[in-house]
Amino acid sequence: MHEVKAVVAKSVGEPVSLETILVPDPGPGEALVKVQACGVCHTDLHYREGGINDEFPFLLGHEAAGVVEAVGEDVTTVAPGDFVVLNWRAVCGECRACDRGEPQYCFNTHNATQRMTLADGTPLSPALGIGAFAEKTLVAAGQCTKVDPEARPAAVGLLGCGVMAGIGAAINTGNVSRGDVVAVIGCGGVGVAAIAGAALAGAGTIIAVDIDDKKLEGAKKLGATHTVNSKETDPVEAIKAIAGAAAGHEGADGADVVIEAVGRPETWKQAFYARDLAGTVVLVGVPTPDMKVPEIPLIDVFGRGGSLKSSWYGDCLPNRDFPMLVDLYRQGRLDLDAFVTEEIGIEDVEAAFAKMHHGEVLRSVVVL
Ligand code: APR
Ligand code: ZN
Ligand code: ZN
Repeated sequence: MHEVKAVVAKSVGEPVSLETILVPDPGPGEALVKVQACGVCHTDLHYREGGINDEFPFLLGHEAAGVVEAVGEDVTTVAPGDFVVLNWRAVCGECRACDRGEPQYCFNTHNATQRMTLADGTPLSPALGIGAFAEKTLVAAGQCTKVDPEARPAAVGLLGCGVMAGIGAAINTGNVSRGDVVAVIGCGGVGVAAIAGAALAGAGTIIAVDIDDKKLEGAKKLGATHTVNSKETDPVEAIKAIAGAAAGHEGADGADVVIEAVGRPETWKQAFYARDLAGTVVLVGVPTPDMKVPEIPLIDVFGRGGSLKSSWYGDCLPNRDFPMLVDLYRQGRLDLDAFVTEEIGIEDVEAAFAKMHHGEVLRSVVVL
């Protein structure tokens, strides 16, 4: 048993607190990870606000990198000393999605089986089955992906969630190809990651759309070639004009791929109409349960063809995608450092929530 400091949300809406928690030694299929860095994500705040479920107390944090300290006796995929990025979809290899060769849809993803607890024995619910605002955490071995140990933990840990979701929305779900015109609506952490992904995939024109000029400036740094402030300009018309000019015939075309990274009906509708005939819409923004598909004539769905997709976790396969993206980062082709707005201490998570809420940061990252 390990006694460590960790950030816990005890009840709905209450500020998070730093607690001593108990982390068991790893049993079969499990790994104990000494956390080095963990990003602060909207999902952590959603847990604290009771927006995910009621299983308080939550052990927050899930975008993390660290070093494996110990593994259960049957674990062969990672070993003590390995530098790993944690993921929240360790696939089972046995369900019908895995059987049909689509493990990114695995219906039975794994987490640690033993529970971490508060000092008085109260079991904790780790955010997304990780819980990494903690000096050590216990996960399923399959949640650990070994990557280049020379990489900066604060930067590569972000691949564990939002940055992978955005990059994957472009390269996996959207299948962005060389020369494509890509538009990204919403340029927070996920949206700019989608822009970076589109740039990696060789998109020729990358149009960033947001209602905040500061976010559009950030989008340019990650590869946007054009920006549209949709508070001032109709984004559908603007995207069509830019796409048309790129293709050499003004006005008519939309983007090949439009990535919606806000999670709202009105922005999804913009994405629907801003794509070219037979183009692709990727929804990576997460809507709330009360939101409805916007009213669209069915003939437009039929007549425009193409595909309307959603992207869970960027359709990533951690063991395929994390090492590849870390290598591209190490080669200077993917600027993961640009996502790290600030490094903070483990006691600063509540302050980081406030900054995130005001849109001041791409990511605050707890460094341990
Ligand atoms: N049109 C365009 N952009 C918008 C609009 C709008 N109507 N409303 C908000 N935005 C912009 C914000 O200005 C901000 O830059 O969308 C961005 C959202 O960014 P963040 O709040 O930082 O969220 P992020 O972490 O990028 O996640 C985006 O993806 O994974 C999901 O749950 C996550 O739904 C969220 C989405
Ligand atoms: Zn499976
Ligand atoms: Zn997250």
